[in-house]
Amino acid sequence: MSLILGIESTCDETAAAVVRDGWDVRSNVVSSQVDLHAKYRGVVPEIASRAHIENILPVIREAVQTAGCSLSDIDAIAVAHRPGLVGSLLIGVTAAKTLAWTLGKPLVGVDHVQAHLYSVMLEKNEPPPMPAVGLVCSGGHTALYAINSWTDITLIGSTIDDAVGEAYDKVAAILGLGYPGGPIIDRLAAEGSPKAIDFPRSRLGRDSLDFSFSGVKTSVLYHVRGFQGRERPLELTDQTLRDIAASFQQACIDVIVEKLKRALTQTGGRSILIGGGVSANRGLRAALESRMNVPVFVPPLAYCTDNAAMSAGLAHVLLAAGRTSELDLDAITLSELKR
Ligand code: KG4
Ligand code: ZN
Repeated sequence: MSLILGIESTCDETAAAVVRDGWDVRSNVVSSQVDLHAKYRGVVPEIASRAHIENILPVIREAVQTAGCSLSDIDAIAVAHRPGLVGSLLIGVTAAKTLAWTLGKPLVGVDHVQAHLYSVMLEKNEPPPMPAVGLVCSGGHTALYAINSWTDITLIGSTIDDAVGEAYDKVAAILGLGYPGGPIIDRLAAEGSPKAIDFPRSRLGRDSLDFSFSGVKTSVLYHVRGFQGRERPLELTDQTLRDIAASFQQACIDVIVEKLKRALTQTGGRSILIGGGVSANRGLRAALESRMNVPVFVPPLAYCTDNAAMSAGLAHVLLAAGRTSELDLDAITLSELKR
């Protein structure tokens, strides 16, 4: 049996969780900073790090208390140490190192994006057939992975510009809706016509597994404000908003389905796993359910957006494989990872 405390502070959620045996979530505490960043319509790094400092200890304390254990019962400390905003990452990494050192317990550094893929295991403990194709789609990432096992995950494609969640957030801003835009567009799309407007689908090269979402976003902008702002702006009635949301969402889904099919063909994948904030999208879930010919594994809704349970879960596998970290574990940003 293993009881792992996970810590997450990669972006704008401060989170801690206690997970038993890699799937049984005993507690999952997430302190969201959405309200702090909403007026800027995006995450402000300096505000995020300050909020992490204030929240990290109360969040960890609550996670341990809710799990009904004490720190001395914990077998290892897991922390998402890459990729993310450096000032935010450092808060979680420092808290995790300090706890590991003072408690004399192993430290396990976890890749946040790989942890999003692992979130399909939480609560259900239903291992997907491997090799699998994984898709992480969130505000910061849109990336495809070939997964041979939980300790053998290779990046096979990623966005060359905006992440899909970022495109949702920007389209919501263009339409004058709130932040984060994903859930709002999801709701409107359910009542609109996906065929109302033929927004572009960027498929890139014939075999490409990369994504591009800035074209569809710009296309929504021109549709609403007129080409380069020269024509009369569109009148945004309730039905127009629903139709734009549904048509934009359909363009994103069609591209994602196409790329997943290509990835299955190229890797011989036997299942699909999705994770990240956009994996909560109802239209995407329904499309994958009906259009893919292998089983599709999605996380329980609570674990789609950023959380620490997914890191604690993945750490169980890493710990069993002897992949622990030293106390000089670094916080690594996305641009450093790509170097
Ligand atoms: O995984 P996450 O919490 O943070 C990142 O690592 O980025 O994802 C947040 C993103 C935001 O862009 C948000 O608009 C999007 O996920 N999102 C959704 C939905 N719920 C959250 N996008 C589409 N449909 C949803 N239901
Ligand atoms: Zn994330």
